[in-house]
Amino acid sequence: MDIKQEALKIKEEVIQFRRDLHRCPETAFLEKKTMAYVRKHLDEWKISYEMLQPTGCIAKIGRGKEAVALRADMDALRVKEETNLPFASEHEGYMHACGHDGHTAVLLATAKILKKHEEELNHRVLLIFQPAEEIAAGSKMVLKTGKLDGITGIFGLHIFSGIAAGKVSLEAGPRMAATNWFSIHVKGKSGHAGKPHECVDAIIIASSLVMNLQTIISRSLNPLENAVLTIGKMQAGTARNVVAGDAVLEGTVRTFSKESEQKIQKRMKEMIAAQAQMYGADITFNFEPASHPALVNSEIVVQKVKKKADAVFEANEWTHVPAMMLGEDFSNYLEEYPGCFAFIGGGGRYPNHHSQFDFDESALVQGVKMMLIFALV
Ligand code: NI
Repeated sequence: MDIKQEALKIKEEVIQFRRDLHRCPETAFLEKKTMAYVRKHLDEWKISYEMLQPTGCIAKIGRGKEAVALRADMDALRVKEETNLPFASEHEGYMHACGHDGHTAVLLATAKILKKHEEELNHRVLLIFQPAEEIAAGSKMVLKTGKLDGITGIFGLHIFSGIAAGKVSLEAGPRMAATNWFSIHVKGKSGHAGKPHECVDAIIIASSLVMNLQTIISRSLNPLENAVLTIGKMQAGTARNVVAGDAVLEGTVRTFSKESEQKIQKRMKEMIAAQAQMYGADITFNFEPASHPALVNSEIVVQKVKKKADAVFEANEWTHVPAMMLGEDFSNYLEEYPGCFAFIGGGGRYPNHHSQFDFDESALVQGVKMMLIFALV
């Protein structure tokens, strides 16, 4: 199969898929209209598929003992769209602000092309239309069904507006981070603002924590290890003349290795206990287990794919993209099976998850090429 040619031929159609899907953004596990749209096309092309519960499906093309899997995520976000696109969201308050409409469109187009060339395949290709990536639950649900048992590889991609339009990146090593969420509840003693000596000021303790926890990144971790500790929410106090009795801090930790994650958690625990003792407060600390690990591309698989890809992409279409501190639940698949994950340049002006996020539709054709390479590698 001439991958370049096939991808170019399907350009208008894949753009139409994307625009249709963009109009009907649906959030995690509620991708009903999206599923109906996918099924309508699979039925039309006589591609068999198995439904997943509550949403999602796995389509199957080809025959043979061996199988590889391609995955697209389908869910949208609770973001009010402000793009003014002619095909903007028709679901008020919801938006495909992360390009998953593009991923679904790319996988649909890939399915159509693969079906046309089914006779040439001597293995099976499973096409996973996955729900609920944004809440990091979809990939776990798919894995639990056991329907991927025995696959020899799994592949996926993501469109990012921060990468120049039409460029592609496929690189070995850590590419996206593991995400942990945490909350800290400081319980002090409230009282009159003029009598601080009779109180335990939760705001002082919380402020001290905000500053001190940052030193874990700068002083407890190897400086060559990348990690993030962000406190994104801080709530304390009731009135300006009252010493705050309670403070709540919430945040996230992003890491590329289990070791870093464990080290950060351990140091946070120690620091929080020390601060509690120092100020005479009760502090509870909740550090949630990571919903997915870091996304790490296998060196061997990347090399194998790139060998094939060099016949499809010109040298100037490749670009280097540094690893990102964003999360991606595709990493759950890579814990179980060999595979890799590519980045596709969307070249937009606003970042993913922004209310004005959009991407250059040349990314769709590049995505189809990448998926076909993955399917045939
Ligand atoms: Ni995304």
